[in-house]
Amino acid sequence: MSLRVTFTAIVIMFSLLASAQTVSIIPQPSKVTIKGGEFVINKDCSLLFDQNNSDLSGIAGLFNDYLKNLYGFSLLQSVGSSSIKLVISDKVGLGNEGYTIEMDGKKATITSSTPAGIFYGVQSFKQLLPVKPEAGNLAIPVVEIEDQPTFSWRGNMLDVGRHFFPVSFIKKYIDILAMYKINVFHWHLTEDQGWRIEIKKYPKLTEVSHWREQTVVGHARDSKEYDGRGYGGFYTQEQIKEIVKYAAERYITVVPEIEMPGHTSAVLAAYPNLGCTGGPYKVQEIWGVHGDVYCAGNEETFKFLEDVLDEVCELFPSEFIHIGGDECPKGAWEECPKCQKRIKEEGLADEHELQSYFIKRMEKYLDNKGRRLIGWDEILEGGLPPKATVMSWRGEKGGIEAAKQHHDVVMSPTTHLYFDYYQSEDRDNEPLAIGGFLPLEKVYSYNPLPEELSAEEKKHVLGAQANVWTEYIPSTSHAEYMLLPRLCALSELTWTPAELKNFEDFQKRMEKHYSRLEALGINFKDYRK
Ligand code: ACM
Ligand code: ZN
Repeated sequence: MSLRVTFTAIVIMFSLLASAQTVSIIPQPSKVTIKGGEFVINKDCSLLFDQNNSDLSGIAGLFNDYLKNLYGFSLLQSVGSSSIKLVISDKVGLGNEGYTIEMDGKKATITSSTPAGIFYGVQSFKQLLPVKPEAGNLAIPVVEIEDQPTFSWRGNMLDVGRHFFPVSFIKKYIDILAMYKINVFHWHLTEDQGWRIEIKKYPKLTEVSHWREQTVVGHARDSKEYDGRGYGGFYTQEQIKEIVKYAAERYITVVPEIEMPGHTSAVLAAYPNLGCTGGPYKVQEIWGVHGDVYCAGNEETFKFLEDVLDEVCELFPSEFIHIGGDECPKGAWEECPKCQKRIKEEGLADEHELQSYFIKRMEKYLDNKGRRLIGWDEILEGGLPPKATVMSWRGEKGGIEAAKQHHDVVMSPTTHLYFDYYQSEDRDNEPLAIGGFLPLEKVYSYNPLPEELSAEEKKHVLGAQANVWTEYIPSTSHAEYMLLPRLCALSELTWTPAELKNFEDFQKRMEKHYSRLEALGINFKDYRK
């Protein structure tokens, strides 16, 4: 062997070793120890777990599906040359979602006290695998990992009201969230421009309210042009059950949002008796805040919403039900004799207190059903319902105020977590967006615990959530582009201990994730360019 060949061989050996030795997990785990050596996975490796445990069978099945899809093989159920073991054990002691990974050259064990923890251990394990196998082998570094999340609410919202996305995409979206250990999918199902959930008692919601006659072209701020094409779509109750089950199998809770008292033009178009004037109303064709809202003086409104929530609670086992509450103009209430009568009779000071009356009634209804109401921070106006949880979107102010009042909060400020904002200042080279500028680094920098809160008040911050509003996101690949890689930053700021966050290190780990996303057929904004 010539000196040059030997030298080349050594370089290749070192670079293989180096590539096997870097760990690029997102979100960064609490503790990773590289032990030295390799663990090789191939078609002779087995996946062992208690076959009587249906949760573990489900997780193992998803792991094998992933391997099959990306690498063309799945793992043996019988004893192989090496093994990956999934073990439920109370001894782990890393909370409800924590896990450990222990390894030597022949054996890897993922242990947790809960199936959720095992699922997260598997997500980390998947990210240890190289994107491309070498001669049918997936070599990974021998590591030990100890990991658990910082926050219990690691959320992402998708608006399907402005644009409708098919069931197949909702599943792909949930898969993406699961990869990064996001555990809440907030499904924004009702809007001025379209109602998307089948309610058996009110069939016109899916005959009339899901359909708009046309859609504004370009930015609503300065456009007078419409496309002249009808647009609609909704999820049947069977499809919703399928999605809820699909998400649960990936340890994601689906929190449905049914907007009230604003953002309700589409409902009023079908049931005009629920508005202050009786109409006529239409499903809106342009984005923005609209004045057609539920009449708060009409008992029929509350009967309708209670009926809707009955069906919603049947479909969604989530403890939290989101009732919107944002951006409700008060003009119609000011002019409406029924609303004014309600204000007088209930001794309310003004229309803000009427909104508070509305939300408090709905909270009582949900509370009696054993559910918790969550709403956007406008529900603070006129007084919070006694047990309400606040989703703080107009900055952190609402969240801080609610936590100081001893209410639970989820932080979702426009400044750091609105994924409908531009990802670059070079707007000409980005798809049209609602506005703003929210690059990856800014998302990453967010800390959901405001300094203004005491240690005790901070306990009310359940976590954080990023929102994908879709006025300007008409397609699935565009939705993926707005989601990624900002979702990776969200996952790290909700999962990883704040003291371990490091943007430069995150960027290095992201380098590997871009190629993984490519291999999985997921679109993203490429910050490598
Ligand atoms: C919101 O962005 N209107 C909650
Ligand atoms: Zn009214």
